[in-house]
Amino acid sequence: MGAGLSPSVRAAFAAIVGAANVLTDADARSGYERDWTGRFVGSTPAVVRPRSVDEVVDCVRLCAAEGLAVVPQGGNTGLVGGGVPLAGEVVLSTRRLDHLSAIDTVAAQVTAGAGVTLGAVQDAARAHGLRYAVDLAARHSATVGGTVATNAGGLHVVRYGATRAQLAGIEAVLGDGSVIRHLGGLAKDNTGYDLAGLLCGSEGTLAVVTAARLRLVPRPAHAVVALVGLPDPSTAVEAVAAWRAVLPDLEAAELFLAAGMNLVCDTVGLRPPFAARPPVYVLVEVAGAEDPTDRLAAALEGTGVEHDAVAVATDERRRAELWRYREEHTTAINTLGPPHKLDVTLPLGALGRFVDEVPGIVAAVAPAARTWLFGHVGDGNVHVNVTGLAPDDDRVDGAVLEAVAGRGGSISAEHGIGTAKRRWLALNRSPAELAAFAALKHALDPAGILNPAVLLG
Ligand code: MLT
Ligand code: ZN
Repeated sequence: MGAGLSPSVRAAFAAIVGAANVLTDADARSGYERDWTGRFVGSTPAVVRPRSVDEVVDCVRLCAAEGLAVVPQGGNTGLVGGGVPLAGEVVLSTRRLDHLSAIDTVAAQVTAGAGVTLGAVQDAARAHGLRYAVDLAARHSATVGGTVATNAGGLHVVRYGATRAQLAGIEAVLGDGSVIRHLGGLAKDNTGYDLAGLLCGSEGTLAVVTAARLRLVPRPAHAVVALVGLPDPSTAVEAVAAWRAVLPDLEAAELFLAAGMNLVCDTVGLRPPFAARPPVYVLVEVAGAEDPTDRLAAALEGTGVEHDAVAVATDERRRAELWRYREEHTTAINTLGPPHKLDVTLPLGALGRFVDEVPGIVAAVAPAARTWLFGHVGDGNVHVNVTGLAPDDDRVDGAVLEAVAGRGGSISAEHGIGTAKRRWLALNRSPAELAAFAALKHALDPAGILNPAVLLG
């Protein structure tokens, strides 16, 4: 594959989606062939852009008949090489599946096509006093289909869980072209296997997700954000645990370090938030029907927060300014060259020490590399980013992921396995689990055409 489509296959795709939606020119394909970081770059004979589930069915059937492997792709914001054609696959872009139903205000749900962005879901929900609990910095590019396929986490997992917890139904096309459609959104529906839950996080290996029924949550009337400095990662982990215990409406608890703060300020042109330069920063957000500012202030007392390193914001503009110090990390790190992004979870009791140790683990393998640490401390999830490595040099990846597994952690907290971490899946999954994965893959994608290089490989 990768050598181009035969004229007859190209004509068959054009008959399904229209010639304008079969992209074969190099310029038109290029944005679909590389991931956002620039670490994963492949090539495809064609990008096909179906507009309806029926067109997806016909594309998948054609690929199965022709023995063509397919990479489903949404907003192409994935970070583990799971949505780009690294082995010459056809790219099936879901971005034109962008129908959004009216908001069901009685059920607090919406049905969204796979190509709808998270930002568009938020905009529609906002008009009804609701919101979608999955939010992340790439909100205006990341799509419902991609975030369902990867079980995306984001900023509010600490309160609402990841994408799987928001799913009330799914529509998807299996590898043989059959359609699973279960979008009724019933709160109680105990009629067998939870296929939405199974396909969520399957990374395009079992089906092409074409639509999802999403639960929405009330939009809080009040929110407060605090950015605070702390002396070390372990104190930060303990502080967040103490805040959670008294703030059930804690929406986010994000950690980053002085080096990341400096990089963000230099790269994006922000002023540091405090004259003091603490080693560790934690950003917390609390939101609810009543103003939580006083409760948050009380919670911060006596938990190791450095008194000259506290910024509190209640109005929307200032809250967004504080969030920028955290959200700009991804962009700022990428200016140093494509990073290796190791998205891991540690048991909370081991997280602080791991954050202290991981730069040494990296340096032992690659002394000239730099390690950047930030993440969702409330979830035990730290993003270990390493710059200064060749894209295909994965010695550091192995050392860090083995250290994570050795401490009882997960090698993928929220980004997925993709192609980047496939080699190390057995660190977290037993032979019996991997055999069950393979059996599911064979049952739902018998020809093995859906993302064959991802997850199981
Ligand atoms: C984040 O938490 O900002 C995202 O997972 C993206 C990233 O890890 O760079
Ligand atoms: Zn993240």
